[in-house]
Amino acid sequence: MMNKFNDQLRVDFAGVNFKNPIILSSGTAGFGQELNDVYNIELLGGLSTKGLTLRQRSGNVGTRIWETPAGIMNSIGLENPGIRKFIEQELDFLEKIDLVNIVNIGGSTLEDYIETVKIVSELKVDMIELNISCPNLKKGGMSFGIKAKTAAKITREIRKITDLPLVVKLSPQARNISEVALACQGAGADGLSLVNTFKAMAIDIEAKKPVFENIYAGLSGPAIKPIALRMVHEVCQAVEIPVMGVGGISSWQDAVEYIMAGASLVQIGTANFINPRAGLEILKGLNNYFEKNKIESINQIRGII
Ligand SMILES: Cc1cc2nc3c(=O)[nH]c(=O)nc-3n(C[C@H](O)[C@H](O)[C@H](O)COP(=O)(O)O)c2cc1C
Repeated sequence: MMNKFNDQLRVDFAGVNFKNPIILSSGTAGFGQELNDVYNIELLGGLSTKGLTLRQRSGNVGTRIWETPAGIMNSIGLENPGIRKFIEQELDFLEKIDLVNIVNIGGSTLEDYIETVKIVSELKVDMIELNISCPNLKKGGMSFGIKAKTAAKITREIRKITDLPLVVKLSPQARNISEVALACQGAGADGLSLVNTFKAMAIDIEAKKPVFENIYAGLSGPAIKPIALRMVHEVCQAVEIPVMGVGGISSWQDAVEYIMAGASLVQIGTANFINPRAGLEILKGLNNYFEKNKIESINQIRGII
């Protein structure tokens, strides 16, 4: 379709052409179909699917979403249809629409990740986002992303079996996020996305127990933005591969901050729940900012801080 926004917004990320830097983040836009009923999501740069695992998962029991003053906590537990049902039911739509589709992959064991990636690598998809940062799984998930050594191992194993552009999604719980980022780069990642949600907690004082069955859950939204922005800045100073910035982006100004901190692309998550048109509105604001300031390319402002 016609790109009604500025060509100056185009971004080449790991050899993949995005018509603009706005991406819907994993777990906040499903597989795109519902949001596409609200507005034409083809206007955006890309979409990262809900995290997919080898087998279908029904997710965690009990409370799954909890509002906080400046964000939400979630404990979804990677509910998803499994990779095969995704292929049967969702892929057709993603293949047809003109935006970069990023398949987000989660798992509890290395073997699960490997099997899932093998299947995905046979598909007509644009990119893999390897989620080694989900805080809501009892086993696996985030535990791969805490230490540089384990992050490097899983990245290396996945790199061996796929030629698709590989983006590794980092955890803010990492002991040292720049070290983890460097380890993923060294192990063959083409890019990074950061951050996933922050491990957090809420207590129901009447019931005198934690709100979430798993006690802890993942915090996202405006509350995390300044910390996530700092992490993106640190990682961009450390690595040479491109970075997608994620965390609390709710306005085009937030998106510009992430780009100035070094991100090539930005992902919009929780903001979609507050306003389903958030992605489009952020894109429009960014487009105007580029026009007003006569910015010729994202590289003119990217990483200037
Ligand atoms: C309800 C919900 C579900 C999520 N599911 C996933 C997921 O399946 N895979 C993943 O990598 N990240 C998942 N995330 C994390 C987001 O993609 C994003 O990294 C995080 O929420 C921070 O961005 P935000 O503050 O803009 O929401 C989820 C977040 C929320 C709120």
